[in-house]
Amino acid sequence: MALRHPAFAALWDVPPSNPQRPSVSTLKVHFLPQLVAPEDLAGGTVVVIDVLRATTTVAYALAAGARAIVPCLEIDEARSVAASLASSDRVLGGERGGEKIEAFDLGNSPLEYTPETVGGRTVVFTTTNGTRALRHCQLAKRVLLGAFVNLSAVVKAVADDGDVHLLCAGTRGAITGEDVLLAGAIAARLSDDGSGASSSVVESSSVKLRPAFSLNDQARIAVACWRNLAGKRAALPAHDELIAELRAALGGRDLIELGFDADIEAAAAIDRFDVAPQWDVASGRVRVN
Ligand code: MLT
Repeated sequence: MALRHPAFAALWDVPPSNPQRPSVSTLKVHFLPQLVAPEDLAGGTVVVIDVLRATTTVAYALAAGARAIVPCLEIDEARSVAASLASSDRVLGGERGGEKIEAFDLGNSPLEYTPETVGGRTVVFTTTNGTRALRHCQLAKRVLLGAFVNLSAVVKAVADDGDVHLLCAGTRGAITGEDVLLAGAIAARLSDDGSGASSSVVESSSVKLRPAFSLNDQARIAVACWRNLAGKRAALPAHDELIAELRAALGGRDLIELGFDADIEAAAAIDRFDVAPQWDVASGRVRVN
């Protein structure tokens, strides 16, 4: 029997969804790249998070006027990309084991990326976890890089997107508290969990509430971590409290051991920059959105 029977005509006229009400979109946090298949990111927006330090450093570099960042998986790949660019136009940066790579211009300290070192230049960049997490997103429709230093800019950039994934890079295959915390901060701002706790932040940053975002369990856990620090009603935690939290997390402990304490403070400067770095898969370059 044909389904388009005249008796069901009234149903054909009903639009599939009420245009006044946003359709339900998903907001998923992934504590590690290993916890989500690249295919599951296909067609969505992904915010890659490596607070200590790759995504923080990318924000510093672009805010300092770098023309673009070229993320590379391997050191040899980075060297050959750099060799294809005029030496005056590029900077080779990154780390292994947290330390600057031999014969590279810069390490992975955000504070090294200044207008003097990277202004007007392309940064060819390789890090242990951050660039790897980025490459995990090859099938996504849109890929942004998030950090505390550009929290509001990233939230604003993805607020109107459909399905959003927050992908934490982790450290050596382990979940890191600093990445989960930022995922929670972004998720709290993007979603309305019914408590109204995000309202003050959302209103003050003029980002629309998205009550129809449905959160996965990792997103709920991340939001709970963030609220534990920021307080139910507080828009932001005190700078010192955030620093203490980052120092206590795995990425922070690693950096303290290597003598990079200052990088933790640099990473905790919420909204220092109004840049939302976006990775263009076709060109392989990260630029300001
Ligand atoms: C990474 O991408 O593995 C991290 O940013 C490591 C680091 O802090 O140098």
